[in-house]
Amino acid sequence: MTDQRHDILSIADLSPEVLHTIVEAGLRLKRTPRSSVLAGQTLALIFEKPSLRTRVSFELAMQELGGSCIVLRPDEIQMGRREAIKDIAAYLSRNVTLAALRVFAHATLEEFAAAASIPVINALSDHEHPCQALADLMTVREYKGRLTGVRFAYVGDGNNVCHSLLLAGASTGMHMTVACPEGYEPDCSVVTHAAQLAAKHGGVIRVVHDPLAAVQGAEVLYTDVWASMGQEAEQEIRRAVFAPFQLNRRVLTAAAPDAIVLHCLPAHRGEEITDDVLDSPQSVVFEQAENRRHVQKAAILYAVGRLTAESLSVVS
Ligand code: CP
Ligand code: NVA
Repeated sequence: MTDQRHDILSIADLSPEVLHTIVEAGLRLKRTPRSSVLAGQTLALIFEKPSLRTRVSFELAMQELGGSCIVLRPDEIQMGRREAIKDIAAYLSRNVTLAALRVFAHATLEEFAAAASIPVINALSDHEHPCQALADLMTVREYKGRLTGVRFAYVGDGNNVCHSLLLAGASTGMHMTVACPEGYEPDCSVVTHAAQLAAKHGGVIRVVHDPLAAVQGAEVLYTDVWASMGQEAEQEIRRAVFAPFQLNRRVLTAAAPDAIVLHCLPAHRGEEITDDVLDSPQSVVFEQAENRRHVQKAAILYAVGRLTAESLSVVS
C-alpha cells in the first residue's frame, strides 16, 4: 500500500482506506503470524506510565516480524529531565528504525515526533490511544463481519480511549454513541472532528448522558476505567460520579441480544464493569487484547512504509 514512512500520533492520521487496510492486514497476520520482513530492524519502546498489553504486544509483534525491541523505562531516560526530548529523538533516530511512546502529555509525543527522523507511534497519551482503537476495529470486524453501520455504545469517561474510538468509528462509518456523566464528555475538538469525519464517511456521532438509552440495540458495548493513569487523585470523586454508568447486567440486557462487550483493559472489576459482564460469553476482551499484537504488526509495517502486498505475501 505504501513505501512512505508515517507517524501514528492520532488515529485520525490514518485515512479510512488505511484503517481498513491495517485492520484486514491484522486479521491476515493473526492467521499467519511469522515473517522476517523486519529482520535487523529495531523498535524503541518508551514508557512514562505502566503497561502490560502494550509492552507485550509490541515486543512480540516485532519478534514475529523478525525484528527486535529495546524497552526504555522512565527512570532510565527521564525524558525532558535528564535530557531534552529532542535530543533523545535525534539520538534514537540514528540507531533504531522506529519508536513507540507512552506519555503523560500528548505534547511530549508531538515534540519527540517533530525532532525524530524515524516513524513515531503513540502507545497511549492523555489525549489518544490509537493502537487500542486499531485492535478494537479489528475485533468488531472479526465478530460483526463489518464496520460500516455497526451500532457502537461507549459508556464511561470521555477519555483518551474514547477519543480514538470516536475518530476511528467516524472514519469507518460506525454509529457511535458515548454515554458519560455531565462534565466528563470527550473533548469538544475531538467531537467536532469526529462529526466532520462521520459526515464524510457515513458515520454517526452522539454524546448523551443516559446510559440505558445509549445502549438500546447496540451491537458493541465498550467501557474503560473511570480514572485513567495520571488521574489517581480523582479516583474517589469519580467513583461516585460514574456509578450510574457501570456496565452491568441491566445495561447489557438493554443492548442487542448478540452484542459483544469490549474493554481495553486493565479493568477495575466492580467499578466500571461487573464481574458477571466481564466474564460473560458476550465479553471478548481477551480476544480484543490479543488483537493488539496482530494489528500492531500491520501498524508497524505501515509506519515504516512496508505494508505492501509483497511484504504481506512473505508472511508464512
Ligand atoms: N490496553 C492497554 O493499553 O493496556 P496496557 O495499559 O496494559 O498496556
Ligand atoms: N484510559 C486508560 C487506558 C488504559 C489502557 C488510561 O489512560 O489509563
